[in-house]
Amino acid sequence: MKGLEQEIARRRTFGIISHPDAGKTTLTEKLLLFGGAINTAGAVKSNKIKMHARSDWMEIEKQRGISVSTSVMGFEYKGKKINLLDTPGHQDFAEDTFRTLTAVDSVIMVIDCVKGVEIQTEKLMEVCRMRNTPVLAFINKLDREGRDPFELLDEIEQKLNIKVRPLSWPIGMGKSFRGVYNLFEKRLNLFEPGKAKITDNQIEFEDINSPELEDYIGENAAAELREEIELIEGVYPEFSKTEYLNGEVAPVFFGSAVNNFGVNELLNCFVQIAPEPKSRETEEREVIPTEEDFTGFVFKIHANMDPKHRNRIAFIRVCSGKFERNKFYHRVRENQKMRFSNVTAFMAQDKEIIDEAYPGDIVGLYDTGNLKIGDTLFESNGSNFKGIPAFSPEIFKEVINKDAMKTKQLEKGLRQLMDEGVAQLFEYEMGARKIVGTVGALQFEVIQHRLKEEYGASVAFQPQNIYKACWVSAKSEKDMNEFIKSKRRHIAKDKDGKYVFMAESKAWLQMIQDNFPEITVHFTSEF
Ligand code: G4P
Repeated sequence: MKGLEQEIARRRTFGIISHPDAGKTTLTEKLLLFGGAINTAGAVKSNKIKMHARSDWMEIEKQRGISVSTSVMGFEYKGKKINLLDTPGHQDFAEDTFRTLTAVDSVIMVIDCVKGVEIQTEKLMEVCRMRNTPVLAFINKLDREGRDPFELLDEIEQKLNIKVRPLSWPIGMGKSFRGVYNLFEKRLNLFEPGKAKITDNQIEFEDINSPELEDYIGENAAAELREEIELIEGVYPEFSKTEYLNGEVAPVFFGSAVNNFGVNELLNCFVQIAPEPKSRETEEREVIPTEEDFTGFVFKIHANMDPKHRNRIAFIRVCSGKFERNKFYHRVRENQKMRFSNVTAFMAQDKEIIDEAYPGDIVGLYDTGNLKIGDTLFESNGSNFKGIPAFSPEIFKEVINKDAMKTKQLEKGLRQLMDEGVAQLFEYEMGARKIVGTVGALQFEVIQHRLKEEYGASVAFQPQNIYKACWVSAKSEKDMNEFIKSKRRHIAKDKDGKYVFMAESKAWLQMIQDNFPEITVHFTSEF
């Protein structure tokens, strides 16, 4: 299958992670501009949930409409097919981002040079680490008076537990920002503030010791740059692509996204070093992208944009083989046979109907409620892909049905919202109580509003004193049964029927671990 191999070799599927406000949206837009995928600035801007005094869920609903088209932005650049997957920046939607990260092959991490490594970046890096996802770092906003670059690099190493290797180096910063020296391509890239053009003023500069450097940046800056480059070459081992691909070292670029600065070299390096689609583990074996048979999994569901039609778009990451429209595929869960005629691919800003897709691509399948997050689809034989875990939520509330006449609608609505991954549902065996768990407080408003609007069901939420939902495993079935029996009041089941221990506090959880050494608790559903 030469065609298949070639298609795989040219695909680069990635996501951008950052703490809100570091510049993810701006960088996304600039990458699309440089990639030739969009012509005007401002195209991606709307994809951001800004907190207003107005009701938050209204804003979210509006964003939900926009975000279908920005979920995946595909474009061609230097012979590569690039798929950029959008990750919600707002921390309340962190679960969405975690799941999207299961569908990418690498990430670009944006860091604000004034603020350094922030909390959301730390959390997202933990998720990247679970799969050793290769990370490229972009230190942004160099047009501001930020922190010392060496200090920033040290902070990345310490807080994110990854080695770094600068591939570009800033010349000055803030008001005195002159540009960067690109160590990867040995070029001098001079900064012109406010420049709206999308071509950088790049000067080839093999030898940093050439006296010409003074002509470009002046004596003082030249001396400082030479000194710093010497230090970098002394301190950091030479860049190793293998280490990057193993997720061990993050190459670092400096720039200013809003000024179109440093983005081009980031993209040029990205297409040279970023990984093509890799093999993935299923419960039974490793699936290699070049296998002829199609396999893929659902990592995101977008539902009910039009309340009159219960339509959903399920986002599938193609993992192996060629996906074809109108062909029968199996869903691993209950081994159901399915066929999709309405298949969408995503190009920046546009959706288009397509007939086929290759590993690394994301396709949107119109679905009437048969698919849920984590579902695996396959052609002839398959088992579920691993690595799409649920994470313990942080806020827990009991669902109180306020309208007994609408119990059925409530059940259906809750099930569908959970399939979409809006929140997680835990059901206590005792008393059949239903607990909704989320990462952020906003989701409760969203759920309440959507249950009412889309299903006609009214609910209230009763806060629960729960610290974490812990998936449990035991050395033996007997140990498990004993634990479940003795802690029955605190045991619930997740969407897949797995046992979850609802711990009330950290201290209590510790006590449980001490008292039941044969039981292991986990904060994710896969272990
Ligand atoms: P996010 O998606 O990571 O949340 O960040 P976003 O790109 O929206 O950027 C956050 C703010 O930082 C924006 O300003 C944006 O213009 C600004 N920004 C991005 N890159 C740079 C840069 O290189 N230098 C400087 N100085 N600022 C940068 P805002 O005022 O919040 O929004 P806007 O009114 O400018 O759109």
